[in-house]
Amino acid sequence: MPVDERFPRLLSPLAVRGHELRNRIVFTAHTTSFGEGGVPGDRAVAYYEARAAGGAALIVMEPLPVHPTGGVTPQNYRFDGPGFVDGLRRVVDAVHRHGATLVSQLYHLGPNADDTATLRERWAASERAVPDGPGMLHALDEVDIAALLEGHEQAARAAVAGGADGVECMFAYDTLVDGFMAARWNRRTDGYGGSLENRMRLAREILAALRDVVGPRRLLGVTLSAGLGEYVDAAAHLAERCDVDYVAIGNGSYSAPHLIIPPMGTPLGMGVALAAPVKERLPGVAIVAEGRINHPALGERALTEGACDLVGMTRAMIADPDMPAKAARGELETIRPCIGDNLCIARRIRKFPIACLQNPAAGFEAAQPRPAGRGGRRVVVVGGGVAGLEAARRAAELGDSVTLVERDPELGGQVRLLERLPGREEYGLAVDWRRRELTRLGVDVRLRGQAAADDIAALRPDLVVVATGSDPPPVAEGVLTSADVLGRVSPPPGAAVVVDEQGHHEGFGVAELLAAGGRQVTLVAVAGRAGSELDDAFALPLGLERLRTAGVAVIEGYALDEIGPGRVLLRRVYDGRPRTLEAEGVVLAGRRSARGELVPLLRARGVAAVAVGDARAPRQVADAIREGHAAAGASALA
Ligand SMILES: Cc1cc2nc3c(=O)[nH]c(=O)nc-3n(C[C@H](O)[C@H](O)[C@H](O)COP(=O)(O)O)c2cc1C
Ligand code: SF4
Repeated sequence: MPVDERFPRLLSPLAVRGHELRNRIVFTAHTTSFGEGGVPGDRAVAYYEARAAGGAALIVMEPLPVHPTGGVTPQNYRFDGPGFVDGLRRVVDAVHRHGATLVSQLYHLGPNADDTATLRERWAASERAVPDGPGMLHALDEVDIAALLEGHEQAARAAVAGGADGVECMFAYDTLVDGFMAARWNRRTDGYGGSLENRMRLAREILAALRDVVGPRRLLGVTLSAGLGEYVDAAAHLAERCDVDYVAIGNGSYSAPHLIIPPMGTPLGMGVALAAPVKERLPGVAIVAEGRINHPALGERALTEGACDLVGMTRAMIADPDMPAKAARGELETIRPCIGDNLCIARRIRKFPIACLQNPAAGFEAAQPRPAGRGGRRVVVVGGGVAGLEAARRAAELGDSVTLVERDPELGGQVRLLERLPGREEYGLAVDWRRRELTRLGVDVRLRGQAAADDIAALRPDLVVVATGSDPPPVAEGVLTSADVLGRVSPPPGAAVVVDEQGHHEGFGVAELLAAGGRQVTLVAVAGRAGSELDDAFALPLGLERLRTAGVAVIEGYALDEIGPGRVLLRRVYDGRPRTLEAEGVVLAGRRSARGELVPLLRARGVAAVAVGDARAPRQVADAIREGHAAAGASALA
């Protein structure tokens, strides 16, 4: 691999226990939910192979729950199930073929396991309330501890049998083993409670047993979370007392999930500062920093500062498997950036295989049509929002001759408005990258273009992708839509009410924008809880914090009866009791209407046409991009 001179450290090799990592980039563990019957299948093979081919040095394979009480999703791998070892070997072979190293993560989610998936009680160091439910946790006794140790050993044996180069333990994020380490959770009076020495005993016993299983040549790593509090001491304790090769430093916990997988609006590279004190204390152990290191320059800086030896760049490589290779070739402009919207984790939380807003092919690597043998079509895309941009980009990538017609003077559609939301500027990267790619791929982009059916038909297209977007909801005079506010139309001076039918970033962000102008603002969530769509994306704690800081009041538990100038009529869901809110400014962040009327007009002229994104049914940015991609590639992304 060439080495771009801007990234001398990021692209330099590192030997860890005789394993030559070709650069410093780690694809850290993540539960992809690609498992089929507990086995890594074709989907997992293609997914990890793509990241290895793209230049990742170390791949931490999706975790293996070490005990039936420890998993989170029905798609978790089952190390003791039929076919597991063969499935893992296929992944390992594919990764090795491209020169990457692979270790398997082992975990037990403890208090944060999903008892609906496991149909078992949840395990913890000490009895206490289940963090997100009415029951109590089960405190491990000596039989359970023996079973836990045995589970780690068996899982590691399966990983070794599958050809893995080692194993990593996740003792992080308020799960089982870090619950033993944490003074606030561990109330035990036996040899596993009390002093740090005792609280670390379980971790030490597990790591000692695992070293025996993996032997002297394979890697043994551990992930800790800065959310533990005493994580620097814990890292030092394990590094000094156990034969570990690397320590990865994550952050947060399941009660602060926005720190585990930090969403847009959090500082870039925020995990680096947390790794630095561990590196300072343990100069001789390989330290992995992770958390929003989403660009090669951030990785290079973390290494230059001496904060770590390796950088986790996980979502960066979900979004662009080729990120390391592109960095090495100096093709930075072509890197498809992760924008931190966290669709990936939202899908995992909903018990579906992960997906990526920016990279609709993530998880479908094996099913993508290839340019070879295709092409030659004349494709016209109408509309330059993200659905149209992605359709045009993908068609051009497949070798088609593509024209994109946009009636406005600039590309980007509604996303150009979304990027004006405070803390959500990264939405704009979804447009910027595609715009650059259209130039690179030679797409004929016609701004201020004519998009009447006759004009489009005159281009004699083989396929027209109609990506004409949507209209804001109709509102009475004197009421504004969120699009109006983002288009810089201000409500009259005074207090404002934002009625949020979306539960997403738009309502929250518009309320924040209005409050920043010095108004008293109330957000009324009329589609369930406030920010209901942000919760699974680990973005709700941050969103609510931003509202609190801006001084926005939030009302929940009401349905919308009527919205008019200066007045909003609500009905309490619980008992139907009416409530009236009065304010000088009334804004609706509401449901939009599809603008797909071009499709039947084109079909009536014998032209093949398909509507995508909002023109089909107004939804989220990810839906628009996925449909644009699928329409151009004639591929199924389900
Ligand atoms: C969909 C998803 C699932 C994850 N699951 C795990 C997991 O099972 N174990 C783990 O240690 N970390 C998990 N993580 C956290 C990542 O390893 C990493 O710490 C986090 O994404 C921050 O790094 P990044 O900003 O480079 O993505 C997950 C992350 C994502 C996006
Ligand atoms: S879904 Fe969003 S946050 Fe997750 S990897 Fe893709 S772009 Fe990044």
